[in-house]
Amino acid sequence: MNYKHTSIAAHRTSLGLAAVTLTMLGAAGCHTDMWVQPKPKPQAESDFFVDGQSNRPPIPHVVDRAHLRTDDAYWKGIRGVNVVDGKPAGAVLVDEIPSQVYDAPEYKSAAGDKKELLAKVLDRGHERFNIFCSPCHGELGDGNGMIAKRGFSVKVPPRNYNTERLRAMPIGHFFDVITNGYGAMTPRAFQVDQNDRWAIAAYIRVLQYSQHAEESDLKSDEISKIDQPAAPAESSKKTGEGERK
Ligand code: HEC
Repeated sequence: MNYKHTSIAAHRTSLGLAAVTLTMLGAAGCHTDMWVQPKPKPQAESDFFVDGQSNRPPIPHVVDRAHLRTDDAYWKGIRGVNVVDGKPAGAVLVDEIPSQVYDAPEYKSAAGDKKELLAKVLDRGHERFNIFCSPCHGELGDGNGMIAKRGFSVKVPPRNYNTERLRAMPIGHFFDVITNGYGAMTPRAFQVDQNDRWAIAAYIRVLQYSQHAEESDLKSDEISKIDQPAAPAESSKKTGEGERK
């Protein structure tokens, strides 16, 4: 009984398969012309070109303008590379956001107000940092991200940005670290694009200030707020938490 049941099922399946195969053959028939058309395959021999190759090598000395990256400040975060005795020398890390970032369509403003532009870049940096970096470095940049807290086991933990050494680093260094990686940290260029890497690099400076502001950096009305008692519980709960984030 069981056997019979199986054989009917098998019969049905093979009928179904035959139908599918026929349909596929029919569909494929429409494309046969295109499959068999004459065309050169990569690396194959060709009797069409004089050099006998199907490959067309790039014309000597032609420069691909879309990938021409001559501006080291923007692309590498450094400027002033000279060659002395056959070796690169004199490179200095840049310490400001390159102008190309401000000109990017996402930030460009008709009014060209530098403060407004900078605010947009930093907002973007804040957002991207929280997505791509805070899991390891923490939202304050203190190295206490969720991954670091919960068993991220490497010899060198994610760095705290609030150290003398990193506070003294030009933002070109942060751009370089994100682009090329640093020690145990893998490069992040594959997931964070060029202008966003600059926006994040600039935002790291903001995080450093947020943990290490001097009194002289503050305006007098901000200083006067420092020793004031906290606002009543209800409103401070809302605003206080928002600000800390
Ligand atoms: C998977 C975890 C991880 C992520 C994600 C990560 N980092 Fe790191 N980062 C590290 C570790 C680990 C180190 C320490 C590397 C070392 O010193 O060998 C480090 C070091 C750094 C340093 C210090 C370099 C120095 O000079 O000491 C900077 C700056 C930095 N990361 C920025 C970033 C930024 C910006 C992002 C996001 C785009 C990011 N990191 C994402 C793990 C991470």
